[in-house]
Amino acid sequence: MHVAIIMDGNGRWATNRGLPRVMGHRRGVKAVEDIVKFAPSIGIDVITLYAFSTENWKRPAKEVETLFRLFKFFFVQKAQEFKRLGFKVCFIGSRVGLPAAITQTMDHVSDLTQDCQRMTVNIAINYGGQAEILDATKIIAQQVADGTLSVDDIDETAFSNATHLAHCAAPDLIVRTGGDVRLSNFLLWHVAYSELSFSDTLWPDYTPAELSAVVNDFASKDRRFGGLTKKAV
Ligand code: FPP
Repeated sequence: MHVAIIMDGNGRWATNRGLPRVMGHRRGVKAVEDIVKFAPSIGIDVITLYAFSTENWKRPAKEVETLFRLFKFFFVQKAQEFKRLGFKVCFIGSRVGLPAAITQTMDHVSDLTQDCQRMTVNIAINYGGQAEILDATKIIAQQVADGTLSVDDIDETAFSNATHLAHCAAPDLIVRTGGDVRLSNFLLWHVAYSELSFSDTLWPDYTPAELSAVVNDFASKDRRFGGLTKKAV
């Protein structure tokens, strides 16, 4: 099962307590650790987390800097433990504009964990769904120009193979915390048949128990993928 999460509400969690927004991101990191470690126990074998969007550059430079510092600290600190736990860490999104210290850490943790098989953890950093679709379109166009793909062979599989999530099946379930009901440019190509779950809980307060309840509920869904329910056939 592939679960993808839009982790929203860090800023409000902190502001509600009279704390600077960055304290919400700090607590958000703790929630990431708890959720990721818990995920395999409820049958999740791929988890994709929206950590930084292409639109998040609009935030004050200080907040962006703090977020990058938290990412680096988290992955440096957790790399060995994730390897031991069998978590293969992959990064999706664009590297353009990311500080070298971050890209080096990303390379380090993905190299270290590349053979792990218990669960794949995709971290979306500097990621935008529309940008991903454009990237894939350019790859497909280049394949056609090179003569390695014919126009008639451009289908959903060929396109998926050109996206940032070519190494995974599409997400079964999208979770968004923080009360808003929108996708915010997340996984636009991949969500075609995903179930959607929106929670009012702010990300730092999101617990393994809440995720477990949502995943249980998902198990009862009749996913028809445009066809008929088994009962109606
Ligand atoms: C959205 O909350 C959250 C982010 C933009 C950052 C997400 C980052 C983390 C959860 C930190 C750790 C991540 C990893 C992978 C170690 P917001 O700031 O938009 O909250 P608001 O809507 O209340 O302002």
